[in-house]
Amino acid sequence: MRTDPTFQTASAADLDTMLDANRYRNRSRCFEQLVARSEEHFWNPADPDYINFREAVPPGVPLLPFDFVVESGTAVWDRLDDSQRLAFTNDSARWIVSNLLHCEQGALSLAAGLCQMLVDPGSQEYAANQVREEARHVHAFTLYAESRFDGQIFAVTEPVGDLLHHLIDTPQINRKILGTQMLVEGLALGMFATLQRVALDPVLQRLCRLVVADEVFHHHFGKVWALKTIPSLTEQERDAVEDWAEEWFQVFFSNLVCPDQKEALYARYGLECNWVRGAIEEAVGATGGESLMRRYAGPARLVINTLTDAGIITDRTRSTYSPWVGLAPVSWTVSTLSLGYSGLGSSFQN
Ligand SMILES: [Fe+2]
Ligand SMILES: [Fe+2]
Repeated sequence: MRTDPTFQTASAADLDTMLDANRYRNRSRCFEQLVARSEEHFWNPADPDYINFREAVPPGVPLLPFDFVVESGTAVWDRLDDSQRLAFTNDSARWIVSNLLHCEQGALSLAAGLCQMLVDPGSQEYAANQVREEARHVHAFTLYAESRFDGQIFAVTEPVGDLLHHLIDTPQINRKILGTQMLVEGLALGMFATLQRVALDPVLQRLCRLVVADEVFHHHFGKVWALKTIPSLTEQERDAVEDWAEEWFQVFFSNLVCPDQKEALYARYGLECNWVRGAIEEAVGATGGESLMRRYAGPARLVINTLTDAGIITDRTRSTYSPWVGLAPVSWTVSTLSLGYSGLGSSFQN
């Protein structure tokens, strides 16, 4: 697949290419602003002047509203008393924060890989800058988990782990940048913006606001990549990018609403995963799939808008995304979502 010179790569072990005396001055100017402005949004998670992790949540107040929890409004809620509902909601926040922390670590590892591979010194400096900022986010979410969850972090879910492994392992630079800077960063940016708005914990609101200030710059790098790359692809290459993005979207958003990935959480309340799936299906049957998607409509729309602007969503795949932006009725069920993940599909094997 064609790659713009700004994003050309060498193998991480190819030091001779990096030491080429003619390389240093052959620098793109696309990212000078992103790097120059990094001081503007500097913050230190360990400094209470930026964020005070010791600030307490008011007693009896959950970290997130009850109705943000997918299982609220289902038979699961009938099985829990008031104190269990509070604990379950905070555990759901822990599940979301754990996945975001894993995504931050994934972004850190991926950006570190880009930093070693990108030949253009301007792109390389941008990647180095992102590595520094992702490390800050890993630190910050770890401190948050310590302050709110005694440091108890859920294991990475299977789809998120598989996707991050795939992005690290693939030698295709276009796929790395599309997957990391447009899709993972887009989803994360949308999640942080949503949590900043809905969280009842002022520290979580503040944390998300600080992280968003960094993430918009990372997402912008992906937009520049798309602008320079997508129009130059052959139809076949562009279709492959579109198919891969579609599959990624389904895997990631299914992960957010499907019960299969929350077995460890349910076990703490004596709930069995299949039973919870049935309870959610029953509630969705009564209210429609929109009630599930509503919680994540913000992040979904951000990713969809980015992909549309980049020409990565066309009539070939639009119907997959339409329900998320209210353009088509919801046709899938919890069963198709939760049973849908059995590893990454064919688009990832090419
Ligand atoms: Fe980040
Ligand atoms: Fe990021």
